[in-house]
Amino acid sequence: MYYSLASAVLLFVCILVSSCYAQDVDNTKTCDITKRDDINLTVNCSRRNFDSIPKWPLEINQIDKDGHVLITFFNNSITNVTEVPAIPGSRIAISFKHNRIIEIENDAFKNLERLVYLDLSKNKISGDVLRTEILRGSYNNNIYNNIALETLNLAHNEIHSLDRYLFQHTPNLTRLYLNNNPIEILDHVTVLAISSATNLEVLDLSQTEIDNIPVETFKSLKKLQQLDLSGNKFTMVPESLSLIGISLKFLSFNNNPIAELNDDSFIGLTNLIELEVAENSYLDEVKRSTFSPLKNLRVLHLCHNRNLRYISHNAFRGLKDKWTLKEVYLDDNDLSEISPDLMPWDKLDTLGMTGNSWLCNCDLADVVTRQGAGHKFKTGEIPFCAAPLRLSGEYITNITLSFCPTFDKTFSNKKRFSITSLKPKQVLWSIFGVAIVVCIGIAIGWMVKGIKSIYKKKIRNQPVPYINLNSNSYA
Ligand SMILES: *[C@@H]1O[C@H](CO)[C@@H](O)[C@H](O)[C@H]1NC(C)=O
Ligand SMILES: *[C@@H]1O[C@H](CO)[C@@H](O)[C@H](O)[C@H]1NC(C)=O
Ligand SMILES: *[C@@H]1O[C@H](CO)[C@@H](O)[C@H](O)[C@H]1NC(C)=O
Ligand SMILES: *[C@@H]1O[C@H](CO)[C@@H](O)[C@H](O)[C@H]1NC(C)=O
Ligand SMILES: *[C@@H]1O[C@H](CO)[C@@H](O)[C@H](O)[C@H]1NC(C)=O
Ligand SMILES: *[C@@H]1O[C@H](CO)[C@@H](O)[C@H](O)[C@H]1NC(C)=O
Repeated sequence: MYYSLASAVLLFVCILVSSCYAQDVDNTKTCDITKRDDINLTVNCSRRNFDSIPKWPLEINQIDKDGHVLITFFNNSITNVTEVPAIPGSRIAISFKHNRIIEIENDAFKNLERLVYLDLSKNKISGDVLRTEILRGSYNNNIYNNIALETLNLAHNEIHSLDRYLFQHTPNLTRLYLNNNPIEILDHVTVLAISSATNLEVLDLSQTEIDNIPVETFKSLKKLQQLDLSGNKFTMVPESLSLIGISLKFLSFNNNPIAELNDDSFIGLTNLIELEVAENSYLDEVKRSTFSPLKNLRVLHLCHNRNLRYISHNAFRGLKDKWTLKEVYLDDNDLSEISPDLMPWDKLDTLGMTGNSWLCNCDLADVVTRQGAGHKFKTGEIPFCAAPLRLSGEYITNITLSFCPTFDKTFSNKKRFSITSLKPKQVLWSIFGVAIVVCIGIAIGWMVKGIKSIYKKKIRNQPVPYINLNSNSYA
C-alpha cells in the first residue's frame, strides 16, 4: 500500500521533472526566426546556452534567396566554431559575439559564400586560430572560392599576430576591427595580412598596445577612409599615415602618450574631414602649423586633454583663406588664453570651450564678442571665466570689458599698412622727400671729393709704408 503510494508519487515527480526538463530544452535550445521586414530576417539564437552550433530550424528554408539574414549567437558558450550549415539568402550576417570561442574549424564558413558580416568579438581567439583555411569558400575545380565577407570584427580577443594569407579569399573585406587585442607589435606577417586587404575602408587598431605602424602596412590600402588608433602607446602621430593621406577621412588619435602636436604630425592628410585628438593626458602644446596640412577638415575634437595649456596662434597657418572647419571642440583642456587670430571664429557653426580655466581678458572678449564666437556655443554649454577673480564664474558671453579697445572695423583696419590705402598727395610728398634726401647725399659727396683732392695734393710725396701681406699671413 505504502509502496504503491510511494512509487506513484515517485512516478509523478519523475514525470514532472522530465516534463520540466523537456520544456527547458525547448525554451533554450531553438532559435527563433523573426521577420523584420520584407527581406530582412533575424534568426535569434542568443542567450540559449548553446555550446556548439545547432542545426537551423526547418523554417529556415522558407527564406527568400534574396533575403538578408542576421543570425545571432550572442552570449552563448560556444567554444568551437564547426562547419556552419548552409542558409539561403543573398546577404548573411553572423554574430558570435560574447562566447568562449577558442577554435574555428577549417572551412567553417564554406557553406556561406554570401557571408558578408562576421562578428567574432569578445571571445578567446588567438592569432593561431585565424588561419587562411577558416575564411574561404567551397572547393571546386582545384580552387577555393572566395567568400563575400565585407565586415570582420575580431575585437576583444587574444590576438598577437595575423596569418599573412588570412584575407586571401576575402577580396571584398572593407571593415576590419582588431581593437582590444594584445598586438603590441605589428610584426611582418601581420603587416602583410593587413596590407593584403586592399579594399579596406575602415580599420580599427585602438587599444592594441602598439606604438608604431610600419610604412608597408598602408602601402596598398588606397581606399582606407577611417582609422582608429586610440588607446595605444604612440608618442607621435605615425609618419606612415601620410601614405593614406589621399583617402583618409576620419582619424581618431585619442588617449596616446603624445606630448605635442606640430607641423609634422598630420603631414599629407589633405582629405581628412574629421579629426579626434582627445584624452591625451601628456599633450601640453599644439605648435604652429599643426593643422596646416588638413585642407579639408570640417570637424576637430581637440578636447579632454587635461594638460593642454597652449595652442599656437599659428596652429591653423595657411588655412584661413580657404577655411573649411565648421565644428571645433576645445572643451575640457587646460587652456586659459586663446589668440583672437587663431581662426576666423565667425566662420564656425559650432564651438565648444567649456571646462577650461579661461582668463577673461580683452583677447577673449574679442573672440567672443567682436568675432561672434559667443553665438556658436551649444545651448547649455556656455563656458565661464576662471580669472580674474572679479569675473570668476561669469559666463564668458556676459563679459563686457570697458577698458578694452573698441572693436569696431575702422579701428582694426587702420592698424594695417598697405600701399593702396595711401592718397595721391601722400605719394607725392613721399617722392619729394626721397628726392631731397638724394640731393643732400649728392651735395655731401661732392664736398668730400673736393676735400680729398686737396688733401691728396698735400701728402703726395710722403712714403707709404709697405706691408707684405703674403709673408705675414703664411709666417
Ligand atoms: C534591412 O535592414 C537594414 C538594417 O538592418 C536596412 O538598412 C535595410 O534597408 C533593410 N532592407 C529592406 C529592404 O528593408
Ligand atoms: C533573442 O532571444 C533572447 C532570449 O530569448 C532575448 O533575450 C532577446 O531579446 C532576443 N533578441 C532579439 C533581437 O529578438
Ligand atoms: C550572458 O549571460 C549570462 C547568463 O547566462 C549573464 O550572467 C551575463 O551577464 C550575460 N552577459 C552579457 C554581456 O549579457
Ligand atoms: C572542434 O570540433 C571539431 C569537429 O567536431 C573537432 O574535430 C575538433 O577537435 C574540435 N576542436 C576543439 C579544440 O575542441
Ligand atoms: C565583391 O563585390 C562585388 C561588387 O559588389 C561583387 O560583384 C562580387 O561578387 C563580390 N565578391 C564576392 C566574392 O562575393
Ligand atoms: C549674465 O548677464 C545677465 C544680465 O545681463 C544676468 O542676469 C546673468 O545672471 C548673467 N549670468 C552669469 C552667469 O553671469
